[in-house]
Amino acid sequence: MSLGCGPGSEVYGIIKALRIRKIGVPIYYEGHDLLDVWEPVQNLCKNSLSSTQHVVDFHTTNLFADFHGFDNGVTNLLILNYLLSHAAKFYSLQGKHQFVDELVDFILHHNIRNILFNDINYYGNYASLDSGVQLMNLLISKIKSKGVKYTVGYACFPFDPYRGNEGWKFYKKNNLLFQKLDGNNFMNNVGYCNSKQIFVHIQ
Ligand SMILES: C[S@@+](CC[C@H](N)C(=O)[O-])C[C@H]1O[C@@H](n2cnc3c(N)ncnc32)[C@H](O)[C@@H]1O
Repeated sequence: MSLGCGPGSEVYGIIKALRIRKIGVPIYYEGHDLLDVWEPVQNLCKNSLSSTQHVVDFHTTNLFADFHGFDNGVTNLLILNYLLSHAAKFYSLQGKHQFVDELVDFILHHNIRNILFNDINYYGNYASLDSGVQLMNLLISKIKSKGVKYTVGYACFPFDPYRGNEGWKFYKKNNLLFQKLDGNNFMNNVGYCNSKQIFVHIQ
């Protein structure tokens, strides 16, 4: 499930990863975003995947109030794709704490097994919580303070200008970079990836 899913682009990455590994399981994907501006793209996505075994659905509702969970009572993966940098930019300091608290309650209440944070590379400051990375670290520390056992991995790309001492692993290749499509000039001069990922596995 994806919070602040926007166009839900991660669906394609997940399906590609399963196909490469020849894993024939269906995904059950639920994306939530408060903005309905993404609806046309979400509908394109649903239509183009309707003939596959995957079940993809989008909601323009507040996840914390509206998520009903999956049939087996487990959510294998919570995706936070460029969501926390959005919160870092637009929420007050109090609002950021409140949002992370809500997220932690949600994670524990809905039996979330894994969390994937994918966001811009800006590392930010602990005191002002001015980056997605800092909000994710706050989330992890709050989970820890609740006595939850977890493992965490931090990953970034070789060109990353600055990061803390969390033990970041550097990708050796840029093979996550989108392939340039003919006529798409937005990708001109984009030669390498620049994002950070944090993956939490709840034991
Ligand atoms: C920067 S966009 C990222 C969209 C998408 N995940 C992507 O990577 O393209 C952040 C999105 O988070 C959504 N958002 C922010 N707070 C939210 C909340 N509390 N519940 C659901 N969506 C939220 C916004 O509406 C916005 O579409």
